[in-house]
Amino acid sequence: MSNVGQPLDRTDGLLKVTGQARYSAEFQVPRLVHAVLVQSTVPAGRITRVDTHVAQAMPGVLLVMTHENAPRLPNDGKPALEPPAGRVLSLLQDDQVHYNGQPVAVVVGDTLEHAQAAARMVRVEVAQQPARLDFETARADAHSPGKVQTQSADTMRGDMASGMAQAAQRIEAIYGTPMEAHNPMEPHATIAVWEGDSLTLYDSTQYVSGVRRTVAKTLGLSPDKLRVVCPFVGGGFGCKGSVWSHVVLAAMAARQAGRPVKLVLERAQMFGPVGGRPRTEQRIAMGAASDGRFTAISHDSLTTTSMIEDWTEPCAIVTRMLYDTPNQRTTHRLARLNVGPHTFQRAPGEATGTFALEVALDVMAYALGIDPVELRLRNDAAQDPEKRIPWSSKSLAACYRTGAERFGWARRNPQPGSMREGTTRVGWGMATATYPANRSAAAATARYLPDGTAQVESGSQDLGTGTYTVMTQVAADAMGMPVDRVLFSLGDTRMPEAPVSGGSQSVASVSPAVQAAGQQARDALIAAAIADASSPLHGLDAGAITVADGVLSAHSGAREPAAAVVARYGRPIEVTAKVQPGEEKQKFSMHSFGAVFAEVHVDADLGVIRVSRIVGSYGVGRLLNAKTGRSQLMGGIVWGIGMALFEESLLDPRYGRIVNNNLAEYHVPVNADVPDIDILVLDEADPHINPLGAKGIGEIGITGVPAAIANAVYDAVGVRITDLPVTADKVLAALKARGSR
Ligand code: MOS
Repeated sequence: MSNVGQPLDRTDGLLKVTGQARYSAEFQVPRLVHAVLVQSTVPAGRITRVDTHVAQAMPGVLLVMTHENAPRLPNDGKPALEPPAGRVLSLLQDDQVHYNGQPVAVVVGDTLEHAQAAARMVRVEVAQQPARLDFETARADAHSPGKVQTQSADTMRGDMASGMAQAAQRIEAIYGTPMEAHNPMEPHATIAVWEGDSLTLYDSTQYVSGVRRTVAKTLGLSPDKLRVVCPFVGGGFGCKGSVWSHVVLAAMAARQAGRPVKLVLERAQMFGPVGGRPRTEQRIAMGAASDGRFTAISHDSLTTTSMIEDWTEPCAIVTRMLYDTPNQRTTHRLARLNVGPHTFQRAPGEATGTFALEVALDVMAYALGIDPVELRLRNDAAQDPEKRIPWSSKSLAACYRTGAERFGWARRNPQPGSMREGTTRVGWGMATATYPANRSAAAATARYLPDGTAQVESGSQDLGTGTYTVMTQVAADAMGMPVDRVLFSLGDTRMPEAPVSGGSQSVASVSPAVQAAGQQARDALIAAAIADASSPLHGLDAGAITVADGVLSAHSGAREPAAAVVARYGRPIEVTAKVQPGEEKQKFSMHSFGAVFAEVHVDADLGVIRVSRIVGSYGVGRLLNAKTGRSQLMGGIVWGIGMALFEESLLDPRYGRIVNNNLAEYHVPVNADVPDIDILVLDEADPHINPLGAKGIGEIGITGVPAAIANAVYDAVGVRITDLPVTADKVLAALKARGSR
């Protein structure tokens, strides 16, 4: 293997910087017209009248689609698939309004401006019904989701009460995180093109096959009549992992208007109808013996959900596996609000759960007078404490050690407020990072061409993270080809199927398929040469032939370029391989781990927080590209800075609208907010996870970061902010309440 692991430049980089990379809204389709969503401005009620007369008479307007004239869908548009693949969508099938921002009409115009102007003139009258927008009220009749992902909503091991009774130190607190919005740079965008009864969707998605399956079922189409194309995605972060209403509405509008339709969400429309992280309220109780060993931990998580479907942020799952404790309870409850449906966002569960758990560990470390790193080491789980099976690999202790060394943690003074620069207080904090090493079935095709190049394809996605690049490297090694003669393609349902680019699983799932297809194609190439009487390799033993740099060679010295073998073969030499995880999934618990160290500067007069340094040390199996991988881990840490200090969707308590539905008021980190980020990736061999030994790195970067930053703020100023984001006003209020600075 010569290419895998190398810091190869992005193979799609040139296309991107020269504007040639085509995103979903940029496909040129003849006769294309433009659709605009009209949304509910109230959170609950029944539509009593829709007046479309003015809009319909406006210039360039082709269609105003409402629940009165929209095509009836099979099963009334109810979810065609099990959630979360099949979401409860708003497809103009009835007159009910369940949240502010719900699509209630679609206007199609010959230009975007005509459609926008007409959309403003659609009058929707709603008989309002009482809306539930108050978290306290919703909490009062919270319900259990039964399951979170594939796990039970509640777990218990040992006996919490006796575990707490044995403890030398006990702590208990509630940790909160707000609703958040994904806000990828590229908004959701769909172009729907009908040709007869066949539909093509150019859709910005993390899952082309999922869009095909869900939309086909929802519309009552055979999946082979539906093609989904998505070569580039300008960020997903989870919101493009499932199909939302606008995708199906675009297809419905295109059919009804008899024209190809483009529907691009405005930035404000990215807050509400397309998911978002729920608000979480997490109660953690923890007991420890005087030596630091945990005697009991409970983690009770309450998260918001919409009126139309249950989606559970699995906050407490991380507590089940991260530390070894004999007594433990975890629960998940849901509180219904009249808000848009929630969904997975940037390490759902792990990002929020590690905030609560890792701040609680910091509190416990101070209570016991034990160094936070040492406390974690003393409670390190030698095997998965929940499943009682070994880890496939775990380098967490080495992550703590190497991260601490790089950061200079040994020089830490545990006294909060001990590091000062003028009126600025400097604080250090750390936390553990973790994310499951997921893998699903995937398929790929590899082919040698007579011109000396190779084509490899898999219907996966590249969210901007490096799928194109890494798969090119894997394919080049498997096929014995130079990387610059391998063309890897993705993002089309005509290609072999690959899983959702979510759950940090694309590399772990798709690279084994690419590797298998590449190796099998190489074997077929060798077989073709052996069988070919004109080849210098004719009749040789397959085991004696290798392929490297596009040339077959035998021990005897006989050589022939792959191109020549393929040329005489008469057609490309091609193999499709499908691979899937096996029994190893039951035998081993598979997770990535890491340690995050943060330094903050807090202005004691103004409460303003600046992150000045972050060190992250990770054990993520084998890193397939040292450059894109490092970049992806840094990106995750930047999300963590946003979650720690800035991001929050603010719900209007009267009308249920997200009021800061723009990038001026929904703050994400900008360059000035992002300090030096130092990434260490350990040399970790995992023989079990997949043939390449690669765990995913898409989401672990965010985990632990909000806690590390919040813990650093405590170290700086001696006040604990337990509800995110940690903002200047909260710090000042806490300092004032404490009566000192
Ligand atoms: Mo990710 S939130 O699993 O797309």
